[in-house]
Amino acid sequence: MATGYFITLEGGEGAGKTTQIKLLAEYLQAKGIEVVTTKEPGGTPIGLELRKMLCTGDKDKFDPVAEALLYYADRRIHVQQKILPALQEGKWVISDRFADSTMAYQYYGYNKRVSKEMLEQLYKMTVGDFYPDLTLILDIDPKVGLARSIKRNNEEKGQEIRFEGREIEFHNNLRNGFLEIAKTAPRYKVLNAGQTIEDLHKEIVKTVKERLINR
Ligand code: TMP
Repeated sequence: MATGYFITLEGGEGAGKTTQIKLLAEYLQAKGIEVVTTKEPGGTPIGLELRKMLCTGDKDKFDPVAEALLYYADRRIHVQQKILPALQEGKWVISDRFADSTMAYQYYGYNKRVSKEMLEQLYKMTVGDFYPDLTLILDIDPKVGLARSIKRNNEEKGQEIRFEGREIEFHNNLRNGFLEIAKTAPRYKVLNAGQTIEDLHKEIVKTVKERLINR
């Protein structure tokens, strides 16, 4: 059986990834494609424990190196236990964040306090020679995205505000980081996440058709 495709959605806080993943999964399922939606951190039971550690509590409780190691522990378990088995069964996997988030948050966000080479080595050691087929970067002005994300967290009485609590410079750095990352390989597509949910969904479908379905 042919293996499925691996799609990742990336972006800063409040870019609308969760909504767009749901819409894309519904679109693909209506075409008869089996889809697994997942996320990082927290795509597996152990990952959920790591997510709690990583996304709640004091914003300075880890240094960026320790933080990157924990994200990569989550990722390795995620790839081994969930992503690869689903792809091998011919399913498509859509993940809310993957390794580009570590480069954007822990390297660019923290203003390069972790070495890029260390992150690249970590990728090779823990994920190996495996990459997404398509990465959609939902680009949004951090002021708009953060306002959305804080509103949602308040409504849900959530505790996941470690990154929302960081200064605007961190969020501007990571936004620029994602735009830099997008230049490094053909698998990236940057989309304007400031437009309506429907318009963004249409752009995502167009991209998926061009890059994966009709290729
Ligand atoms: P989410 O709110 O989009 O689910 O993401 C969880 C948080 O984890 C978000 O603030 C971004 C952060 N994060 C990193 O800093 N590095 C990573 O490698 C990943 C996957 C997420």
